[in-house]
Amino acid sequence: MTILVTGGAGYIGSHCCVTFLEAGHDVVVLDNLSNSNAESLKRVETITGRSVLLEQADIRDQAAIEAVLSRHNCTAVIHFAGLKAVGESTENPLSYYENNVVGTHRLLSAMAKTGVHDLIFSSSATVYGEPQRLPLTEDHPLAPTNPYGRTKLMVEDMLRDVAASDPRWRIGMLRYFNPVGAHSSGLIGEDPLGVPNNLMPYIAQVAGGRLDKLNVFGNDYDTRDGTGVRDYIHVVDLAEGHLRAYEALGRLEASQNSFAVNLGTGNGHSVLEMVKEFERASNRQVPYSIAARRSGDVAECYADTQMATDFLSWQASKDLRDMCADTWKWVVKNPKGYQL
Ligand code: NAD
Ligand code: WQD
Repeated sequence: MTILVTGGAGYIGSHCCVTFLEAGHDVVVLDNLSNSNAESLKRVETITGRSVLLEQADIRDQAAIEAVLSRHNCTAVIHFAGLKAVGESTENPLSYYENNVVGTHRLLSAMAKTGVHDLIFSSSATVYGEPQRLPLTEDHPLAPTNPYGRTKLMVEDMLRDVAASDPRWRIGMLRYFNPVGAHSSGLIGEDPLGVPNNLMPYIAQVAGGRLDKLNVFGNDYDTRDGTGVRDYIHVVDLAEGHLRAYEALGRLEASQNSFAVNLGTGNGHSVLEMVKEFERASNRQVPYSIAARRSGDVAECYADTQMATDFLSWQASKDLRDMCADTWKWVVKNPKGYQL
């Protein structure tokens, strides 16, 4: 029983490979390496002492996916592959619709053709758009505010339709909040190309001296210190959530053969709290200045975690201190990321 992990060389996928291998599953990775480095998978092998095969291919290539699924007798797919930068998605929406929507369509077609019906999909809390109430429950209206978020919602809708069409499908959609942190070995972590868009890798590069200072995007939000509040979740907890979701597929009924669930901690932290905690973990200063709000940002966003607790028997176990300490360990050990 082999699980195909699309996008498995990337940040979240590589951590997921560790979790699944350590739980005794066999995994094969399909990745075009457009935003990752095969070195991450060598590190996964070092951590787990198990081998991981990389099939370098593109999810838009249906024939290639069919060949990989058949060659390795795959029984399930965990689907991370796709593009994820909100800003870039507004500048180049067609490549987001192509990689995320068309790519997932091709993947599903290949799965249908080869008789593989179990799927876990990386969705995002971005599908909720501007929160109308907090914490965000899974039945909150879905109204993404940017092309990236709309690709995630389109894929969710496609998956619900596919599941409803044939009871053999079993599909889990996981709505991640803000994944951060790294494996505690310091061997794998987030390795963004160029200047990071997201807060945690940006802070880490400031602490490590690669960037001068952080721009805090707005300090006049209606939050406890005026800066944006998010639900940061340790990537190893997130990976564990995938294992629980994969196990939950086996408990699905034919009449209810898909689910969408939040993966967050349920706790919000502000930008300035993140800075303070990272300074503590790294014992370095993180200079910052207050800048204008970033367009499209909301004041606060955090998960309701009840469904994950009840349905997946999963809860995040790591706190902000672990998230910052593990990120710092990764940065210190790999100042240039996976570039050797
Ligand atoms: P990542 O960029 O590190 O990983 C994505 C992987 O997919 C990369 O290895 C990349 O090379 C590969 N890929 C991209 N397009 C491909 C294609 N057409 N064919 C084959 N491989 C392709 O990103 P990540 O942070 O690990 O995110 C993984 C998934 O989780 C994505 O679908 C993302 O949208 C989703 N997600 C991420 C976050 C986050 O903040 N990191 C939050 C919510 C959801
Ligand atoms: C967090 C907070 C910023 C950078 C994004 C996507 C979302 C999901 C996760 C994929 C906000 C502030 C940031 C900086 C700052 N990805 N900030 N200075 O925007 O919550 O979520 O990543 O699905 O879809 O939108 O995360 O890390 O960019 O920002 O002050 O240099 O940090 O304003 O309050 P975000 P983020």
